Amino acid sequence: MKNYARVFRGTAFTSKSPTEVHILKEHLFCISEDGLIEKVVAPENPEYQTILQTYQDNLQCLKDGQYFLPGFVDLHVHAPQWAQSGTALDIPLYDWLNTYTFPLESKFSDLGFAKKVYQDVVSTLLANGTTTALYFATVHKEASLLLAKICAEKGQRGLVGKVVMDNPDQTSEIYRDADTQTALKDTEEFILAVNELAQSTKQGIYPVVTPRFIPSCTDDALKGLGELAAKYDTYVQSHCSESDWEHGYVQDRFQKNDAFALHDFGLLRDKSVMAHCNFLNDDDADLFAETGTAVSHCPISNSYFANSVIPIGYLHSKGVAIGLGSDISGGFSPSIYDNARQAVISSRMLEDGVDTSLPAEERGVPNSRITINEAFYFASAGGGESLSLAIGRLEENYAWDVQIIDTTVATAKLPIYDEKEDLHDVFQKIMYLVRPENICEVWVQGEKVHSQ
Ligand code: GUN
Ligand code: FE
Repeated sequence: MKNYARVFRGTAFTSKSPTEVHILKEHLFCISEDGLIEKVVAPENPEYQTILQTYQDNLQCLKDGQYFLPGFVDLHVHAPQWAQSGTALDIPLYDWLNTYTFPLESKFSDLGFAKKVYQDVVSTLLANGTTTALYFATVHKEASLLLAKICAEKGQRGLVGKVVMDNPDQTSEIYRDADTQTALKDTEEFILAVNELAQSTKQGIYPVVTPRFIPSCTDDALKGLGELAAKYDTYVQSHCSESDWEHGYVQDRFQKNDAFALHDFGLLRDKSVMAHCNFLNDDDADLFAETGTAVSHCPISNSYFANSVIPIGYLHSKGVAIGLGSDISGGFSPSIYDNARQAVISSRMLEDGVDTSLPAEERGVPNSRITINEAFYFASAGGGESLSLAIGRLEENYAWDVQIIDTTVATAKLPIYDEKEDLHDVFQKIMYLVRPENICEVWVQGEKVHSQ
């Protein structure tokens, strides 16, 4: 028998396919020293009892009413904006950026302030079951590096970008890169520093090339960032075709949609993740599928800023990789559960439509609904696929990134009254009703990073 670092026993939910959930009842999960699921053993397997006995000193068994879920992946979060979460949601995107968001982000030149906010946001995301997060920091190189260090220390798998905004026409003088050359030089130094930090980090920390969005960047910056992404084979993130205004701005500037404009600058790659993407047309979607670019679906934020509901099921059916993003603070919630719930709700409203002055058959977009199983898939396995990382599934050779859910917590008890309740129903109750109190432990790459 192999030497495992630790063995866990319990019932787990993991995606079998985008629409089906696999229930692993009372299975053993054998974890290697480097934090991978080395073996999954079913109770009927002859090795089951032997492993239980051999590892009795290093065994964690779930109690009744507790379940394993894969850790969630947040594919789009602005760490500095945690400081204004839940506020400032009253005006359209362009005004929101200039009135609230750029002034807030400018304060992150102060490393003391950055440290306070970044420590809180990383801990809060972990407590909400988010084991991997793709972060926008700010334009400040040092503060962005601090965010990467905080992820490393707290054990979260963090992918972090120093934001680039060098276009004087679309940014304010209080908050932009000094000039294009400085933006590119800072980005390159940031990539090297994060790669260095990653060497001593078990769970992985990754630098991300981060043009904020086309409006805030000059052509030279976009081109230089595409070249840096290719030179260092990094992740890329940006906002893409988010709102009427933003989509229209790019059309005016380039006479094409964001997707093709970003592609011209080398920014659509297998490791690219684009937030929102509400206004993708079929050609844009095909380009995403061909280049391996993923969509970060931010359903709560979209309700405020995207002027539309994205046909997420349709994009997925066209072969585009999809995960969920909180988009703090365009989305107010740090919870991927809340975003999974909103993803289902928004898709139902898209399917049925909202304007009752129209006849029912003209009101909505047929076949738009997604199920909670699909939303779970986007929150976990889909997020992992979007990042090309072996995360988001409780399967052999995947990282041991898990949330242990306790459905019996007194202050947040789930309505489960029958010990033999169908586990598919238990799963749905978890997805719709879990609160942070129910997330009693969180593990990343075989290390415990949060407990109640
Ligand atoms: N577009 C450019 N920056 C942002 C941002 O911070 N949030 C959202 N939702 N959209 C953006
Ligand atoms: Fe965003």
